[in-house]
Amino acid sequence: MEFNAALAVQAALVTEQAAIAASEMVGRGREKAADQKAVDAMRQGLNAMAIRGRIVIGEGERDEAPMLYIGEEVGTGQGPEIDIALDPLEGTTLTAKAMANALAVMAFAPKGGLLFAPDVYMDKIAIGRGYPDGTIDINDSAADNVKRLAKVKGVRPSDVTVCVLDRSRHTDIVDSLRDIDARVRLITDGDVQGVISTTDPDTQTDMYIGQGGAPEGVLAAAALRCIGGQMQGRLHFRNDDEVARARRVGIDDLDTVYDLEGLAAGPTIFSATGVTQGSLLDGVKIRNGRAETHTLVMNSVDNAVQRLRSSRPYGPGETG
Ligand code: FBP
Repeated sequence: MEFNAALAVQAALVTEQAAIAASEMVGRGREKAADQKAVDAMRQGLNAMAIRGRIVIGEGERDEAPMLYIGEEVGTGQGPEIDIALDPLEGTTLTAKAMANALAVMAFAPKGGLLFAPDVYMDKIAIGRGYPDGTIDINDSAADNVKRLAKVKGVRPSDVTVCVLDRSRHTDIVDSLRDIDARVRLITDGDVQGVISTTDPDTQTDMYIGQGGAPEGVLAAAALRCIGGQMQGRLHFRNDDEVARARRVGIDDLDTVYDLEGLAAGPTIFSATGVTQGSLLDGVKIRNGRAETHTLVMNSVDNAVQRLRSSRPYGPGETG
């Protein structure tokens, strides 16, 4: 199997399986159990694939994550060498509380194609496609970025909508946006969805700004590689342990600003399946003994963007 559209369809099947498994836990108030369901199903799906897969973004380091840990090898051991970034359940709290926009997410790239990002925070800024290079600059204030985007769009800064994770650490960003009267779309979790929403006019989101997980940053970048857009990310370290995590995955320059290619260099395949109902994707629906899923699968090889609706038999306790 080559790195092509057929592989993308297989990736979609794996995120569908993870989403169906996680959906059993929607609204049950148990984040960890929900995550575990998704992890088990995703691992099972990956191990059935004819690939020599290596997890580069996973559930954590080997000593803290028994499954899908960074460096774990998955697949049958035959087929192309593939680096894998995954978040079996992006939005564990969203799932536990039956809130919008929980996703099962995964990206593939040929070996070496994805940044080996440590599990630390990352400052991120992203916009959709069609804007000149240099429209965003992570070193500038949120307001300056919005003003530049407004100029190239030919609108007023107050017509620009920026998605921001609702966290106290983002007070300065929100204040900066309020100063220019930009619209702020605050989300409680799920910044992979937040970044991708800048590429989807239906969401009416022009820009994503803020600090979230670095692994989620690489996943979002893999999506933008397929669909177009601009993104920058810079790792943020809170203590020596986090710096050590970065060093362990080979990062020496701690202040690097990564652009899209720095986060996801090679051709990429990206797949996300909705777990709960969301603005990008519908959630899993169980009805008439079947599980219905909605998946966004993209492939930077031929720039294909597909939205797949699948339905398969489903019985209690099944993981798809
Ligand atoms: P979950 O761990 O519940 O899946 O949360 C995911 C997420 O909201 C990401 O989308 C985001 O990058 C990160 O958590 C933000 O981290 P924090 O909650 O520590 O601000």
